[in-house]
Amino acid sequence: MNVNEIFADLKKYIERHRELYGDELIVEYASLPKSSELTMTLKPQEISAMKQPVIKIDALPTLEELKATVSGCKKCELCKTRTQTVFGSGNPKADLMFVGEAPGADEDEQGLPFVGRAGQLLTKMIEEERSLGIPRETVYIANILKCRPPGNRKPNTDEIEQCEPYLITQIELIKPKIICALGLTAANTLLRNTLSMTAMRGKTFDYHGVPLVVTYHPAALLRNPNWKKPAWEDMLLLKKMLEDLKK
Ligand code: URA
Repeated sequence: MNVNEIFADLKKYIERHRELYGDELIVEYASLPKSSELTMTLKPQEISAMKQPVIKIDALPTLEELKATVSGCKKCELCKTRTQTVFGSGNPKADLMFVGEAPGADEDEQGLPFVGRAGQLLTKMIEEERSLGIPRETVYIANILKCRPPGNRKPNTDEIEQCEPYLITQIELIKPKIICALGLTAANTLLRNTLSMTAMRGKTFDYHGVPLVVTYHPAALLRNPNWKKPAWEDMLLLKKMLEDLKK
């Protein structure tokens, strides 16, 4: 890594830190001499043996710390109407991460993503042998928004801007090898595009360095069962991508 890359990484980290925790940055100076040591006359060889002061920037939060931060979040108006935040669930070391739009009524009540009717269908899509064929607990599931928009309305720009940094940090911590966006709102939001589902399905996009595949939202499949076949095909694409990881 060259100096420019190190500074680019550091800048990215500090910006993310500021989004999540505000302007205060905890900096720890390691191995600085104590003031009493400074009164001594140090010999040149002692000086050269002294470690350089290291500025250690607070590391990324753990997933549990991030969850605790999210649970107290008041960055947008949704904190006033939520029952609780819905952080995400599943394997914190998952290769595959699903990202939905926002919690619905059941999720708001239980504090877990995709536990209502749409969630049951998502579980089938993940677990059925002719589909992805893996246990739901092996993947990680989260949403763009961690709080339920009243009446299940679409997330607005401010809510997305305030909340998405949590998802990005979640992705940095989980380090999935593949992301699957569930539904047009999730896909258009994550990819900052206005493409249609037809234009996006079957392709691989890049989300902060992670390959991202788009499929129908399970709630849309409940409304329009004709989309189930293409959605199952998308699961097979994910299956192939997961298998390719092992090669
Ligand atoms: N729809 C979503 O997008 N996410 C959930 O968690 C539940 C329903």
